[in-house]
Amino acid sequence: MSLITWSQERFATQVAQHDEEHRQLFELLNTLHRSIGIGEHISTGEALDNLIAFVAQHFAAEERNMCLVDYPDFKQHKLEHDSLVKLCLDLQADFHAGLAPLNEQTTFFLRDWLCRHIPATDFKYVPAFTARGIN
Ligand SMILES: [Fe+2]
Ligand SMILES: [Fe+2]
Repeated sequence: MSLITWSQERFATQVAQHDEEHRQLFELLNTLHRSIGIGEHISTGEALDNLIAFVAQHFAAEERNMCLVDYPDFKQHKLEHDSLVKLCLDLQADFHAGLAPLNEQTTFFLRDWLCRHIPATDFKYVPAFTARGIN
């Protein structure tokens, strides 16, 4: 069973690019969760790297659009992104250094972060984006 499932009702921003990225993020997180469950060290490392690379790519895409529309809450939104990126980079470094194995607590944390951030923070940029034709 998947850890997290994208649904229109809970997660749609109506900005097609970002909805697609969120779906992709969920898939990458599900892959990481499965690898951890199986206990495969190499595939877990790969899944972690893929997820973190895409998290950074997605955050950069949202931040580009926020800059494009002079989004007033840009700073606060970016702070949330930056704190997750820092945490992910620390996790990644520790995992590859053999200092900290990953467990399901990590994927539960990431799931909860996404489930909170998308509706509470991403949804706020929707009016500004759609008003400028970003949809
Ligand atoms: Fe997002
Ligand atoms: Fe965001």
